Amino acid sequence: MNRKSSRPETKCIHAGDTVDKVTGAVMPAIVTSSTFENAAFGEPREYIYSRGANPTRAALERCAAVLEGGTSGFAYGSGMAATAAVLDLLPANSHVIVPSEVYGGTFSLFTGVRAHSAGLEISVVDFTDTDNVAAACKDNTKLVWFESPTNPLVSVIDIKAVAELAHAHDALAVVDNTFATPLNQRPLELGCDIVMHSTTKYLAGHSDVIGGLNVVADPELAERLGRVNAVTGGIAGPFDAYLTFRGIKTLALRMERHQSNSQAIAEWLESRAGVQKVIYPGLKSHPGHELAKRQMDTGFGAIIAIELEGGQAEAAEFMNRLEYFAIAEGLGGVESIVGHPRTMSHSRVPEDRKDELGLVENLVRLSVGIEHVDDLIADIDAALG
Ligand SMILES: Cc1ncc(COP(=O)(O)O)c(C=O)c1O
Repeated sequence: MNRKSSRPETKCIHAGDTVDKVTGAVMPAIVTSSTFENAAFGEPREYIYSRGANPTRAALERCAAVLEGGTSGFAYGSGMAATAAVLDLLPANSHVIVPSEVYGGTFSLFTGVRAHSAGLEISVVDFTDTDNVAAACKDNTKLVWFESPTNPLVSVIDIKAVAELAHAHDALAVVDNTFATPLNQRPLELGCDIVMHSTTKYLAGHSDVIGGLNVVADPELAERLGRVNAVTGGIAGPFDAYLTFRGIKTLALRMERHQSNSQAIAEWLESRAGVQKVIYPGLKSHPGHELAKRQMDTGFGAIIAIELEGGQAEAAEFMNRLEYFAIAEGLGGVESIVGHPRTMSHSRVPEDRKDELGLVENLVRLSVGIEHVDDLIADIDAALG
């Protein structure tokens, strides 16, 4: 069978060659067994113990590796566990560079937990100007970590340029590709070493499972990550791996609708009274629009950040009035979600830094779902009053 299409839409359905060789089942079985019987003394079979490898998880990992253009995938119990596994590759007291704009949990893991427990020395810089990254590199820089587009202000970072800077210092370049998805952007092809996902978001896509992924192209790095995982054990369970694998089947279709809705809503919002600023990489007004066009080949994602007129009270009123957008943490599911980054996803960012980082009181983040666009626009229109 030759199912080697390079088209992401086809890869979403066939990546990983998961048709069961014996039964012909087109979907992988949910294998719950924690352990696997040896054929005889000293003769283990392909699977030994499910912390190390499990058939359902392996189906997801193979699929993810193909989608991201890598050779090996690793699936975790959460996006944060995937991030923690990358940090476990670093020697103690390494210097790492992270963006000032990054998911709040990631920022806390680096600066709150690992700075303390692993002695990480951390530089926080604005990655929208890659000169800042170059200036922050040191002899002991071991990791340059970033997102593009970023959470929550959807800034677009030049992935290829940052990867080159990291490699000039023998550091790993790692991208959190959650907002873009592999349909729009494949960081390994742009020179990065590891691509990470919170699969909780678009890959699983239905707000019903927490998960994470790391994908690598280099076999030596794959072996190192595999060794870390085998002992730290933050793996995805078989039910969760199955749900994520199932979600990926419809990723291309969902992204098409997520993105056409987002483009229409962002363009409409730009001329709507009551909205001070609309930030969406698909808009010509976005400072990273041209870079996004080069770097993201099938779309600009489905997160829109808006600054409303007024302050937190006005933002709260707007959010409370929305009917279809649920006020919730998280994003990337089929249903629309609205969040207030300052008090929700990024609440752990130090209070005195929030304004400077753009986490202003009137900032609202929309995760645009796949409902009919007219209903979503009518909902926002009514909520704006
Ligand atoms: C960009 C990004 N990365 C990582 C994470 C963490 O993922 P998880 O919640 O699956 O642990 C999130 C969660 O919101 C996120 O938005």
